Amino acid sequence: MAPDAILFLVSQPYLKGRRLKALQAALTRACPVPCAVVRMEGREAGPMTALDTLAGEGARNILVQPVGIPFSDSLFAWLPGALAHWQRERGFEGELALAADQIGDEAVLAAIARSSLDRAAEAVTIDPDQGAIDGAGWDEVPEHRHHLLVCTGPRCNFRESGPLKAVLAEELTRQGVARECLVATTGCLFPCNNGPVMAHYPAGNWYRLRDADDVARFVSTVLKNGQTLPEFLIHEVSQ
Ligand code: FES
Repeated sequence: MAPDAILFLVSQPYLKGRRLKALQAALTRACPVPCAVVRMEGREAGPMTALDTLAGEGARNILVQPVGIPFSDSLFAWLPGALAHWQRERGFEGELALAADQIGDEAVLAAIARSSLDRAAEAVTIDPDQGAIDGAGWDEVPEHRHHLLVCTGPRCNFRESGPLKAVLAEELTRQGVARECLVATTGCLFPCNNGPVMAHYPAGNWYRLRDADDVARFVSTVLKNGQTLPEFLIHEVSQ
């Protein structure tokens, strides 16, 4: 049976929001059936939310299509189980299928090669006299007491970690400790099964923060009152 909806999965940690929106708009225009385009790493809602939306709109035969050539082998090996997890957890009774990436599709590869030649005139010519790897404002380490590393890797994002960075930023401001914190997003920190993962230094404690309530408790208990939250702790770095 032909799919009645497609979930396009993009794996690209450094994609700017503006470029992601352009890709979402173009794929949505081109796709003949309802679709969603989701980045697997980042700050947006993740694949489970997109599947919920498609299923909620009535899709009963959803194709999941990795976008990008080549798509990550590691993610591709993990996705069947993760998708099955969503299917079982939500009680989805339709069909869910995972397509291969297009590395073996000669027509797609030929189109890329042709397009490269067609658009060569638009390419930026590199001037050797303009060589520079330093940028403005990249000299100083910002003042901070707490360094927070928020994982935005694909497996944490599948557990809806994406919006947590924004929630954390709001909570730090609301509780008056934003200026003491240096927040950085990271790729996979490895204990994915305990996601969404956030590491706190110099304390050396790693936490699982699942939602906005967990984030609020972390900020008030750990950052403001200097205590730990044993129930959220997943790892302590030995000093
Ligand atoms: S994706 Fe977050 S720890 Fe692996």
